[in-house]
Amino acid sequence: MERIDKLVELLQKLNSGDITPELRQEALKMVSNIDPLELSLAEQKLIENGTKPEDLRHLCDIHMEVLKDELDKLRLSLTSDHVLTTMIEEHEEILKRLTRLEELNSKIQKMNSFDKNTSLFNELLNLAVEIIGAEPHHKREEDVLFPELEKRGVTGPTRVMRMEHDMLRAKKHEIKSLSEKVENMDFAEFKSQLNEAAKYLIFNLRDHIYKENHILYPSSVQTLKDSKLWQTMKKACDEIGYCSFTPWK
Ligand SMILES: [Fe+2]
Ligand SMILES: [Fe+2]
Repeated sequence: MERIDKLVELLQKLNSGDITPELRQEALKMVSNIDPLELSLAEQKLIENGTKPEDLRHLCDIHMEVLKDELDKLRLSLTSDHVLTTMIEEHEEILKRLTRLEELNSKIQKMNSFDKNTSLFNELLNLAVEIIGAEPHHKREEDVLFPELEKRGVTGPTRVMRMEHDMLRAKKHEIKSLSEKVENMDFAEFKSQLNEAAKYLIFNLRDHIYKENHILYPSSVQTLKDSKLWQTMKKACDEIGYCSFTPWK
């Protein structure tokens, strides 16, 4: 709790007016001394204790600055066949598909009616199927990585990640089923439902990946120190299998 109190105090200073270079330095120093996982939990607690999310903005900015290098450091510390290397590379592939979904959605939003002659709707369906095909990635997280963290007392973040997987899964299927029935739907209604589902998925899946890359995975390396354990986990991951887009060198 003491750390939370310190964070609240820091937050009040950051919110009280101009952020001087000295204050910024002080905040950066304090935030870098806190484990990223602990900090994100602290931010969550502050919100639960009534801090308005917008008042957390300054703290989040500084947190982001600290996290920026976290992923590069992590990648350099891992072998190319490490469980987490594969997961980070799969995240990149998922992000590429989200960018494509963003482009497709914005093209479709500009259309006035359904057009049989464009490949856009087929592309949308194929893309939704590919994004749903990330399931083995999430299963490896849920069945191999998270249980090892949970055995060691890290339960909050994994619970949030599992919940997000469920919510995101539902949206992916919604986009797939919309693209299957576009021909038989009122086009304005189709566009509005697609826009809502696509934007939700794009924003929240990017955010989910960011949290895993910058917070959960680095903390996993800190928490799971035994290299033999990672080898056993690798075998369990191999058994679950990979995605059509998993890059293999
Ligand atoms: Fe995940
Ligand atoms: Fe992931």
